Amino acid sequence: EPLVITGKDEMRRWSRSARAKGKTIGFVPTMGYLHEGHLSLIQESRKHADLTVVSIYVNPGQFSPSEDLSTYPSDFLGDFEKLKSVPGRVDVVFHPKNLYDYGQNDGFNKGENRVKGKQGKVVSCLENSGVGHETWIRVERLEKGLCGKSRPVFFRGVATIVTKLFNIVEPDVAVFGKKDYQQWKIIERMVRDLDFGIKVIGADLVRHSDGLAKSSRNVNLSPEERVKALSISKSLFNAKRAAEKGNINCKELRDSVVRAIHEAGGKVDYAEIVDQESLETTEEIKRPAVFCVAAWFGNVRLLDNMEISV
Ligand code: PAJ
Repeated sequence: EPLVITGKDEMRRWSRSARAKGKTIGFVPTMGYLHEGHLSLIQESRKHADLTVVSIYVNPGQFSPSEDLSTYPSDFLGDFEKLKSVPGRVDVVFHPKNLYDYGQNDGFNKGENRVKGKQGKVVSCLENSGVGHETWIRVERLEKGLCGKSRPVFFRGVATIVTKLFNIVEPDVAVFGKKDYQQWKIIERMVRDLDFGIKVIGADLVRHSDGLAKSSRNVNLSPEERVKALSISKSLFNAKRAAEKGNINCKELRDSVVRAIHEAGGKVDYAEIVDQESLETTEEIKRPAVFCVAAWFGNVRLLDNMEISV
């Protein structure tokens, strides 16, 4: 069964000794509450590296005080069972208690993260709990649009924690899901801009059989909300089909998706068709594009996207 490591130093020692034996290391960072989307990333990692490290860490630095850090689901024992049964095997589960452990406060999950930051100041739950972390990675252009608009500290927090994890795990290869398309592109760009020397791989989005994108957050949907949330994937599939049949007008395609989600009772955060490489919005699909959606059903913010090439 996988070795569970909770300390940074022990993690780094394990990686360095594996490297000294000539092994390559694949890495899959997660926030736990694992599902088949995560497990497919592990399979992908195994294709590219001898050994696989999976991290499970809910990062307070990527949640703002008004977001769902305190309700983010977790079940380490359940996750561990899933990781034990991955075909081929996971070598290490890196499960740190607190990666910002130079402060004394590790009460991020106890509710004080709900306290709002000072008006107008962009803060995450990390700063709100008094930890003195002050170095942040920003991927300036790519982090602005899509999820970055309504979640201004999110990608700063993701890029920073992924950097910390890369520095601790020292992998050769890291796998990210295209479910979080913008996140994947941001990490790819960061690795290139800062010469991390890590190969970043994007793995396909995994769906439930009815079309809903798999997500740890889906457990927070009521049964009714879960049915209504199917409007996201259904309307995206319809838009993809329409585009492939020749309707490349992005306004029309966007309107159809927004309408379907509204009619189902959801609240659209954004529905945008962007270039697959630059993530810039397009008016007409002429190059490979991706239709990205974020929408609220109840208290749950769901993400989905579909790559479209015409
Ligand atoms: P988390 O949401 O747990 O996702 C971990 C990885 O699994 C991400 O790369 C995500 O894109 C991928 N993933 C999630 N659902 C997927 C699905 N249905 N199909 C394919 N891949 C899927 O993303 C994060 O955690 C965090 O931001 C993290 C990168 C760990 C930094 O804290």
